[in-house]
Parts: sequence; structure tokens; C-alpha cells
Amino acid sequence: MDKKTILSGIQPSGNLCIGNYIGALKHWNKLQKDYESIFLVVDMHAITTNQVPSELRKRCLSFVAQYIACGINPEKNDIIIQSHNSHHAELMWILSCFTYQGELSRMTQYKSKSKNLKNINTGLFTYPILMAADILLYQADLVPVGSDQKQHLELSRDIAQRFNKHYTDTFKIPEPFIPKNGSRIMSLQNPNNKMSKSDSNSNNIISLLDDPNLIRKKINRAVTDSGSELTFDKKNKPGLSNLITIYKALTSDSIDVIEKRFLGKMYSHFKSDLADIIIETLSPIRDEYNMLIKDKDYLMKILAKGSNNGFRKSRNTISKVYRKVGFLPKLK
Ligand code: TRP
Repeated sequence: MDKKTILSGIQPSGNLCIGNYIGALKHWNKLQKDYESIFLVVDMHAITTNQVPSELRKRCLSFVAQYIACGINPEKNDIIIQSHNSHHAELMWILSCFTYQGELSRMTQYKSKSKNLKNINTGLFTYPILMAADILLYQADLVPVGSDQKQHLELSRDIAQRFNKHYTDTFKIPEPFIPKNGSRIMSLQNPNNKMSKSDSNSNNIISLLDDPNLIRKKINRAVTDSGSELTFDKKNKPGLSNLITIYKALTSDSIDVIEKRFLGKMYSHFKSDLADIIIETLSPIRDEYNMLIKDKDYLMKILAKGSNNGFRKSRNTISKVYRKVGFLPKLK
């Protein structure tokens, strides 16, 4: 039997951070063994907010190198820059004719992203349709995402089901894969918000490429809560609990074991150990990245392979869709 397909993607806005590593890349790394995998760099999603063109271009290539440095095997899997396969945009248009305005206005991410904006671009509003196109285009079985993307995934399923019902079976209905452990890493200074790579305050995030001194500094400065006992208590000690979650995700130790290990010790002791663990995890990634990023030709070749394979797969879906909606085929 053919292997099932997983598909996921990250927006190249800001620097990949430890939240992306724990919530996504670490899981992708495991899943790639058992699935045919497609990992996207969703640059078309990124331009829903303002981007400096030269930086976006650089960041896309840097993301590819970081995916590989985190253990994604580029030979076995396809790494694709979203804009390299025009089928994403083509399918999105058709799916948008099967999506209700009401559905999009209920998306919590849209509501929070558009809250303080004056002129809201339509891309921000139709963003989830592009995400549905990403997924349905490649007939993905499983989509690893953070819990904040669950609603978008449900919309993708609804759109797919609607299309299948209106015509005949066309799209596979994708299942979400939401990791239980540490899927939500919070900001270091503001532990009530998610750690976000596009945060303008870099003290809130640990980037995958931060050097050891900076990591230590950021962890030392991370807010903890008053008190001196190291206990996991999200409600009353959100800052400390976030740090414990990071510790747990990187060591696979249980909270119980961690609490016992630091019984009677100071927060500073815990922070220093945590910084060591993060540095140990990220150093090999940074080293590998520094090698890869020098070899632009190699990265470009990986991307050409990815988008060619991707295009081949998605062409099947697109031609089926064009036929079903009634577009006149052109002479070959
Ligand atoms: N919207 C996702 C996020 O912000 C990124 C994304 C775009 C994605 N297309 C996708 C995730 C397809 C999974 C599958 O995290």
C-alpha cells in the first residue's frame, strides 16, 4: 500500500523559534519516517502582512536550510516554496467559490489579527482558503498543526466535503494531527501570549539561530512568578510553567521528575539548567545551518526537486477540479 501523505507549512515571517521547533519541526522529524511528507514554506501567506521583499526572499531560503538542519530529509521528502507551484493560487480561487463569507468571519485568528488594523486586506480574510488549497491540492491525509490552527483545518475539511458533495469525490478529507506535548510554547516576557516568530520584541522568543550567550540571557530574563517553589501551575505561575514545558519537551522528562529534581533549589538554578539544555539542542542545528546556508546551489536544487514533484502531484488534483467545475480543456 502507498504511504500516507502528511503536509504542513510555516510562514516565513520572522525567525523560526523554539516554539516552532517544539510545536512543529520536532514532530515533522518523527513523522517523516512513516509518511510521504510535504513541507511548505508559505511565502504567499506571509505577504498578508507587510514584508520587505529582499528579506522575504532571504528568509525563504533560510527557512529551507533550517528545516533541513532540524532533521528534515530533503531527498526523501519534498520541501516546497508555496509560490513555486502556481496550483496553490489556482485552486484557492475555485475553493473560494465554495467558502462562505460567514465562515471566514468566524475564524478566531482573523478576528485577532485584524483587531487593531485600519485597512484590512482581503488576503488576511481569505487566508484560510489558501491554507485549504495547500492541503487539498496534494490530497494530504494528515496535517500536523498547532492547536491554534485547528479551526482552519476544520474549515479545510468543510470546504472539501462541500466540493465532494456538490460534484463527486475529488478531495481526500484531511485529519489534523495536534501534538499533545508542548505544542504551545508561550512568550518569555508575556507568558499569556503564544511565542510568535513575528514578535517585534526579540526577548520574547528564542530563535533557532540564537547563539549560546543570547539564549542564556533571554532565559535569565524570562519572567517567572513570585514564589520560590518550582511547581507546574499554568494558572498561577504561567511564566515558570512555560519554562517547565520547554524543559519537558526537550528532555522528555515528566513534570513530576522535573519538579523533584529542582526541589528546594532556586529558580536561577533551574533557569541555568534549562539554558544548557536549549543550547545543547540548538547548537548542532545552528552548526548544520551555517554549513547549509553557504551552499545556495544545493538549496535551490532541493527546491527545484520539491516543486517539480509537487507540481506533478498537484496537477492531477487541479485537472480533476477543472474538469468537474466545467472549464473547457485547452488543446494540448
Ligand atoms: N496557517 C499556518 C500557520 O500559521 C501555516 C500554514 C499554511 C499551514 N498552509 C498550511 C499549516 C498548510 C499546515 C498546512 O501556522
